[in-house]
Amino acid sequence: MVELVPSILSADFSKLGLEIEAAERGGGSVIHIDIMDGHFVPNLTMGPPVVKSLRKVTSLPLDCHLMIDNPADFIPEFADAGADWIAVHYEACKHLNRTLQLIEQHGMKPAVVINPATRVDVLIEILPMVHHVLVMSVNPGFGGQKFIPFSLDKIRQLVALRAELDLKFRIEVDGGVAHDTIASVVEAGADLLVAGSAVFDSGQPEKDARILLQKARDAERTSEGQNFHSERAAAI
Ligand code: DX5
Ligand code: ZN
Repeated sequence: MVELVPSILSADFSKLGLEIEAAERGGGSVIHIDIMDGHFVPNLTMGPPVVKSLRKVTSLPLDCHLMIDNPADFIPEFADAGADWIAVHYEACKHLNRTLQLIEQHGMKPAVVINPATRVDVLIEILPMVHHVLVMSVNPGFGGQKFIPFSLDKIRQLVALRAELDLKFRIEVDGGVAHDTIASVVEAGADLLVAGSAVFDSGQPEKDARILLQKARDAERTSEGQNFHSERAAAI
């Protein structure tokens, strides 16, 4: 089942609680929080205190995307703040296996993120450990960028690897997921759909979340139908 994951990076920070409630009413079912340190990416955002405040306004899973150097140093703080999912960048971890274990030991769901220029197959050994893989479909650091089309191939490769290795991790996509691209990422096989500017920029998060989720569900139904027919054809 596809889920819409509103990214608060594009929300109005003066009324973050209300923005989240509106996105939730529109069908957002996980809240994506972008943590940036000005080193790993050329931008600064928020940290554990914001996560702690948001924990009080929503019971939805808080999906923290750590775009920071040395992410392992901050895992205990995010756990104390009430984070549910923690995604660390492959490119930021000297000891990825250890960092994923640390996240799990702190009671959170571990995830790994890859930048557009990073190949999917570097993840093979750690795939059994992750709750989800996050495919960046823009270079991380800013909202409102254009979707990079080759990300679709990376999603398809992950779908194939998951089947081949008989695993259950989910596939999340982040960056440029908007009204004109959401169907293609669902058709490629992503099921956690992060959207920032497409949900919040118009100032009508409830309405835009609802439209995006509807498009994603329509695309999911169409591709399920196609898979059913091709499996049937193969069986005949
Ligand atoms: C970018 C962030 C994204 C960002 C996506 O580095 O990781 O989560 O909010 O924004 P949109 O959906 O506008 O591309
Ligand atoms: Zn993100």
